Amino acid sequence: MKSMAPDILVAPSLLAADFGRLAEEATAVAAAGADWLHLDIMDGHFVPNISFGPLVLRALRDRVGLPFDVHLMITPTDPYIAAFADAGADQIIVHAEAGYHLHRSLQAVRTAGKRAGVALNPATSIEAIGHVLDLIDLVTVMTVNPGFGGQKFLVSQLEKITALRRMIDASGRVIRIEVDGGVDVATAPAAIAAGADVLVAGTSVFDSPDYRGAIAALRGLSVGEIR
Ligand code: DX5
Ligand code: ZN
Repeated sequence: MKSMAPDILVAPSLLAADFGRLAEEATAVAAAGADWLHLDIMDGHFVPNISFGPLVLRALRDRVGLPFDVHLMITPTDPYIAAFADAGADQIIVHAEAGYHLHRSLQAVRTAGKRAGVALNPATSIEAIGHVLDLIDLVTVMTVNPGFGGQKFLVSQLEKITALRRMIDASGRVIRIEVDGGVDVATAPAAIAAGADVLVAGTSVFDSPDYRGAIAALRGLSVGEIR
């Protein structure tokens, strides 16, 4: 049955998966209806945690048939863009706060032939990207302070999403808004109502015993409506 749900994409964050079985976990969410796989790259410097790098992406690339949505929480960013592109990223998200030259970073992502995203920390205004919309396919609104999974959704970011949706629509460009951090069935509806159309979900998917049900529930579907 064709779903009447809006075009909401779900991107499970591998950060919440069992790290001893990464390929299996990624394959499982792909089979359970995920649209993208969200990969959180942390350097212990820009954020107070360390995750994994391009070698892990490369190892997963041939085994997982989902677009790789790569969220770089590293500084400097630019020296590593080519490595993540070569390792199998489909889109690369850089943080607006990670360097002085956001425009240059986005150019580097586009030059590498990848879709480009910008992530905004909770304290960062949407004005940070007002003059680079021509280089962006995606904006990631952080609804937690980046660095860890399992944190509480920051309701204060909803008005940012609303303003961002307005800015994007006024520009006439097709740019997705991804919401990242604390997204679950309780918080997703407000994010979607504000204008988000990509839901990153770590804990709420991987801590569930039923990945398919968890992904469908985020989209606002009941199990009977799963596509
Ligand atoms: C946080 C990461 C998120 C994280 C989300 O720095 O960017 O992608 O994995 O995890 P949950 O969904 O558990 O908040
Ligand atoms: Zn992320």
